[in-house]
Amino acid sequence: MEIVVSGIRPTGNLHLGNYFGAVKNFLQMQNEYNCFFFIADWHSLTTHPKPNDLSANVSKIMAEYLACGLDPDKAAIYVQSDVKEILELYLYLNMNAYLGELQRVTSFKDKARKQPDNVNAGLLTYPTLMAADIIIHKAQKVPVGRDQEQNMEITRRFARRFNMIYETDLFPEPESYTPAESVKVPGLDGSGKMGKSEGNAIYLIDDPETIRKKVMKAVTDSGPTQQNSEKPEVIENLFTLLKIVSSADTYEFFNEKYNSCAIRYGDLKKQLAEDIINFTEPIRDRILGIASDKEYMQRVANEGAEKARESASATMKEVRKLIGFK
Ligand code: ADP
Ligand code: TRP
Repeated sequence: MEIVVSGIRPTGNLHLGNYFGAVKNFLQMQNEYNCFFFIADWHSLTTHPKPNDLSANVSKIMAEYLACGLDPDKAAIYVQSDVKEILELYLYLNMNAYLGELQRVTSFKDKARKQPDNVNAGLLTYPTLMAADIIIHKAQKVPVGRDQEQNMEITRRFARRFNMIYETDLFPEPESYTPAESVKVPGLDGSGKMGKSEGNAIYLIDDPETIRKKVMKAVTDSGPTQQNSEKPEVIENLFTLLKIVSSADTYEFFNEKYNSCAIRYGDLKKQLAEDIINFTEPIRDRILGIASDKEYMQRVANEGAEKARESASATMKEVRKLIGFK
């Protein structure tokens, strides 16, 4: 069975964009592949989180993913820092990672520009750590967003380089994996995409009142003046959200109203808010339930770490031998 690895940065809460973009892929993949999903807590150290925040963020994101349906019986779900083998591979890969190529990574350059007083070596070697995460399980597929493409190229290059240097075919070159049907969830503020940093996100953990408020504030226009006219982006965004969370009938109802210039955006937003709540409410309940069951969370993390360590330590035995450790 093909091997899949993906890492989740423990920053912030999951929003609808994350759900329909990333999480749904994971849910599908865990049924079809041998999956390793982990919380990338080492990666998050580049921004120097406070000690208490570090573990709280990890637990929070773990509870959210489990509540969405990531299944510890199907996939290895673990915390990166529980698998120390990754650090060893990170060290070896860094010995053949060159300053120039790491400095050329766009996200490094962006971060270095944004935070000039914290351009640390961890930030520079972020792609090396990511490569180690992936190839330590000999992954073939990595579900990631487009923004990770450069890190994936580096991962393939480092896998290839290791194979060349040690005359082996130990590491496959992993490909990025985004199923064709994955959707882009728009924001409610007229901007293209729902995102944490865009400040326009509806979170799975939002309570119904918060969701109603956010949806009612969504940007609209003064309404169509000609029958069957094309929808401007802000309106198209609302319809896209309807398509994602509402029934086909509801979508058609409002589409028809729009086409006949009889639409009342207030009604559409009210319906949209209720349909979003219907979707998020059961997930929210599960998040709260799972988050309060520390014992269950610990058991999941322990079992996941055990599976991940088994796979990682098998690879590392081969790596050490190839490098020349006797
Ligand atoms: P954000 O943009 O909120 O910071 P992240 O960059 O943490 O979100 O996103 C993690 C993953 O969630 C991405 O790899 C991407 O696949 C998915 N994702 C985020 N926002 C959206 C969106 N609006 N629509 C579809 N997928 C999204
Ligand atoms: N860099 C990824 C992100 O920012 C997170 C990540 C770390 C990752 N290690 C990984 C993703 C390994 C896929 C595979 O979203």
